[in-house]
Amino acid sequence: MRPARNTILHGDCITLMQCLQSGSVDFILTDPPYLVNYRDRHGRTVANDSKSDWLRPAFAEMYRLLKPGGFAVSFYGWNKVDAFMDAWRHAGFRIVGHLVFAKDYASSKRFLRYTHEQAYLLAKGPVREPRSPLRDVLGWDNTGNHLHPTQKPLRPLAELIGSFSQPGDLVLDPFCGSGSTLVAARRLGRDYLGIELEAQHHLTASLRVHELA
Ligand SMILES: C[S@@+](CC[C@H](N)C(=O)[O-])C[C@H]1O[C@@H](n2cnc3c(N)ncnc32)[C@H](O)[C@@H]1O
Repeated sequence: MRPARNTILHGDCITLMQCLQSGSVDFILTDPPYLVNYRDRHGRTVANDSKSDWLRPAFAEMYRLLKPGGFAVSFYGWNKVDAFMDAWRHAGFRIVGHLVFAKDYASSKRFLRYTHEQAYLLAKGPVREPRSPLRDVLGWDNTGNHLHPTQKPLRPLAELIGSFSQPGDLVLDPFCGSGSTLVAARRLGRDYLGIELEAQHHLTASLRVHELA
């Protein structure tokens, strides 16, 4: 099936992606669970954050849906890099860059003050280089996690979408949470397809993408 555009699907992304046509997505920007059993100070958790059986099948489906010559950016948990790298390579992605997002606050403190997020830039087959490549260290804004326990800021997402897709392209986020990727894509004139497992986050994303939340 051709993917619907400007839609947010509710359900398990592996099952839903299996219904969609190969090569039908122009760019993937996703923020999957980090496999860290996350719980914030309000007790909020992230679905599928304590098991990794979804990793390989989810990235295999993303790879299939991405057009040849397309890019994907995936956030990941730094202490689970081996599991993510296994899934990306197993799917067929080439690893073509690493991104660091510098925070001006620490999200936690233990052996270090943890002040960055991270993502890999992945490619499907041979890719064209952007005319003016982004720096691989990008800024960050504190969202306050008001809409989702791990809500990402729009500014760096928009920079990535601007660099790796064109107006009218279809941007996929199969772990869309409160819809941050989708809002950034829509504001830049891209079409979007989001998928979210949790009903509450699906509702938030659906309202937010129309600037209603
Ligand atoms: C790290 S959060 C994404 C947060 C998002 N970037 C934001 O700014 O709101 C990962 C999301 O993936 C969702 N999720 C986990 N497993 C899923 C699955 N199998 N299919 C679809 N969504 C899933 C979780 O419910 C969670 O909202």
